[in-house]
Amino acid sequence: MNKPKKHILVCTSSRMTGQQKGYCHTKEGVQIVANFLDEIEERGLGDEVFVSNTGCFGLCEQGPIVVVYPDNIWYGKVSPDDVEKIMDQHIEGGKTVKELEI
Ligand code: FES
Repeated sequence: MNKPKKHILVCTSSRMTGQQKGYCHTKEGVQIVANFLDEIEERGLGDEVFVSNTGCFGLCEQGPIVVVYPDNIWYGKVSPDDVEKIMDQHIEGGKTVKELEI
């Protein structure tokens, strides 16, 4: 396995117990992860772009939160429908999605 060029972290409100319970989970955090996984596979980027679900980033009121490293770009109020745009514009196009940045 290679280190990814981009690592996308999506808050699904995962807790230490393994339970997913919290704001981003109620706002389709899991669907956002699923959409990223689908987009990465469809684009053949599985060796370069990883997605992981995470626990709370402490910004629940701005959730669902998506963080892209190594760019250190944080997106807020992300919906499942925003995933394609983040993939097109940021991950493949190299330009952040300004209207979602926090
Ligand atoms: S539950 Fe997602 S930022 Fe807090």
